[in-house]
Amino acid sequence: MRNSRGRGTRPGRRVVAVAPASSANLGPGFDVFAVALERPMDRLTLSAEKSSKTEALLKVRGVSGVSVRAEENAASYVALSMARDRGIRTLLRIELKKGIPVGVGLGSSAASSVAAALAVGELFELELSQTELLRYAALGERLSSGTAHYDNVAASLVGGFSVTINDGDRPHVISYSPPRALKLCLATPVVALPKRKTEFARSLLPSVTKLSAAVHNLSMASAIVSGFARGDVELIGYGMRDEIVEPARAGMIPGFHEVRRAAIQSGASGVCISGAGPTLLAVADSLKTSPQTILKAMLSAFGHAGVEATGFVTKVGAGARVVSS
Ligand code: HSE
Repeated sequence: MRNSRGRGTRPGRRVVAVAPASSANLGPGFDVFAVALERPMDRLTLSAEKSSKTEALLKVRGVSGVSVRAEENAASYVALSMARDRGIRTLLRIELKKGIPVGVGLGSSAASSVAAALAVGELFELELSQTELLRYAALGERLSSGTAHYDNVAASLVGGFSVTINDGDRPHVISYSPPRALKLCLATPVVALPKRKTEFARSLLPSVTKLSAAVHNLSMASAIVSGFARGDVELIGYGMRDEIVEPARAGMIPGFHEVRRAAIQSGASGVCISGAGPTLLAVADSLKTSPQTILKAMLSAFGHAGVEATGFVTKVGAGARVVSS
């Protein structure tokens, strides 16, 4: 199996890549900020067999809700797009073990797409740059949400708190390590949302905004970046206040204001919608407060609003990696 640049792969070789969940926006950083979560993760195993065409056989295990059709699943779509782009004719065998729940704002499609991009790059020795990997992975986001936004794929690929700088279509990521005490409390309500939830959540957004709201968001986004640069959890949480995107989406999440208030009253430094929701993310300084107590308060506030919810506590984690090759 050779690609157009003469590179090939050893028959029988298998590559395994893992990619973490992520939480995008952090309030004011719409489509630019995200954090990689230490857990959960997706795991993708890839091998290739002889074929005169570029095709894929996909097997999905783990959480439900993802398409099992190769052309409709983010991971296999990314793998096929890469193979076609590089002129590689082969049968791609993809086994995707989904650890990340789908459609709840935890970057599930992004993780699958990143794992696929890494695995294809490794299997065919494509020596891809960070920008190329991001662009390929973002094809999976375009498939899932209609827009090739880079925030989730950036965090899932690079890890840490990621800032995507993208002038035109040359995304570049700057990643910051988290302060040690930073903990993330994630509460996911059980709400009925449209199937293409992110596309729906994006359709709610205003096309114009007031200058005062833009200035507010710029100021808050700067607080978040400064908070990571200084290792200051309070400053990170302080910056998680968005006047543009969240007000337009809050109605998707019953109990949003009550859960936010409950988290802050229990000691959270800041609260925001995780990506396009409906999960809510609270950040906590574990030296000053108990993240488990905050999570309990969030779940109980959802309960009072008549909404069932589940949650977990984690921290900012590393990016995707090839674990076996
Ligand atoms: N920035 C994207 C959005 C993230 O909020 O629509 C989607 O996970």
